[in-house]
Amino acid sequence: MDENTRKYYIETYGCQMNVRDSELMAGVLRKEGYTAASSPEEADLILFNTCCVRDHAEKRLMGNIGALKELKDEKPSTVIGVCGCMMQQKEVSDRFFRRFRHVDLVMGTNSIASLPDYLMRISAGYRVNAVTGINEDVVEGIPSVRNLSHSAFVNIMYGCNNFCTYCIVPYVRGRERSRRSEDILREIRSLADAGYTEITLLGQNVNSYGNTNGDIRFPELLARVNGVDGLKRIRFMTSHPKDLSDRLIDAMAENSRVCNHVHLPMQSGSDRILKKMNRHYDLNRYTSIVDRLRSTVKDVEITTDIIVGFPGETEEDFTDTMAAVERIGFASAFTFKYSPRPGTAAAGMEDQIPEAVKAERLKRLNALQNRKTKENNEKYAGYTGEVLIEGFDSKNSSVAFGKYTNFKMVYFDREGAEIGQYRTVTADTVRNNSLRGHIQHDND
Ligand code: 5AD
Ligand code: SF4
Repeated sequence: MDENTRKYYIETYGCQMNVRDSELMAGVLRKEGYTAASSPEEADLILFNTCCVRDHAEKRLMGNIGALKELKDEKPSTVIGVCGCMMQQKEVSDRFFRRFRHVDLVMGTNSIASLPDYLMRISAGYRVNAVTGINEDVVEGIPSVRNLSHSAFVNIMYGCNNFCTYCIVPYVRGRERSRRSEDILREIRSLADAGYTEITLLGQNVNSYGNTNGDIRFPELLARVNGVDGLKRIRFMTSHPKDLSDRLIDAMAENSRVCNHVHLPMQSGSDRILKKMNRHYDLNRYTSIVDRLRSTVKDVEITTDIIVGFPGETEEDFTDTMAAVERIGFASAFTFKYSPRPGTAAAGMEDQIPEAVKAERLKRLNALQNRKTKENNEKYAGYTGEVLIEGFDSKNSSVAFGKYTNFKMVYFDREGAEIGQYRTVTADTVRNNSLRGHIQHDND
């Protein structure tokens, strides 16, 4: 087959880090002469970029991979690879590799640049089990194909040193490594030159940027990114409350392109549980950060992550979480049932909470957050601000949606506007729990 007609299909699970890794894998493959396939059936190479942060994703993945056996039987030249966080757990990747003979490649989170070597070995007739260590140096200069042409994810650091007791990330993404600020800024300048206007700086804990390599600190990095001509919006995620400094809050207020939104995982509203989670803050510290953000950064919105049913969580602990959610008023929240991750400290703790109790608490928490989201929406009646258009309603393409700088989503009559453009939108009403508005014209 002609080298240039080979096609790849990448299925991505999990967080923005994985989305970004898939963009890099796509870039490496393009350089090797591959183009994107629109379905697995059409592809010569199928890659699953996996996640293992929660759930029993492993079973689902096994089902999906098992189903590809037929495709491989029909077209044996199809290469099937499984990569990412789940594969970085050596026992899991070894088991996959042994069990699924039609899988040609397993690799972890750290070997994107080696993909061409692995593919070469596969074309020579080998199966490749290439899960390597996780603490390798930061590799610069990997090509990438970005999913969007107006908004880009930019990694600023990899890995995590925090070892929250429930979390598998430090085990599968390794220790914290920051990229050099020159490299980050060079990448962002070239994105701005290429027409990107929104940048999201990515890291497991962006607030500890620079800790490991003696580079500038995160607030200073934000100030420098703010100076890149052509950008309109600078976002960042995720922030750890223990490292969110006053200096950062000031930097958000001072740098006009830095958006007024913080994703600040609270995880629990109970000090006892926060301690068992190894989070290094209590609710008081958390709420004081929220208060300072609100008094310093205009129209700021705060979103969060919350886990229910962490080992030992009593009804009283959970009530503390509910009270915190009621009081703080998050714009939105990702809520999860605690899910034991092999090898983490919490998985071995006594007093694991029964599934039914977790489910019932999650239901109560979601009902509360839905009410709070609605309350939050209601304060937007009459609000006017700039919106970056992200897409169109799947049922009605004359309706566009996009976000204000503070991450609030609004739907409005498109009036010919395209994805990636900015429009000034006034919010009018709350419908089905979402904001509806209209484009504001200069002469309105
Ligand atoms: N169980 C449930 N939720 C988890 N998270 C991370 N690990 C677990 C786990 N073992 C959640 C946290 C984190 C988000 C990305 O996923 O809330 O902030
Ligand atoms: Fe996981 Fe905690 Fe690190 Fe976030 S800060 S990635 S929750 S260990």
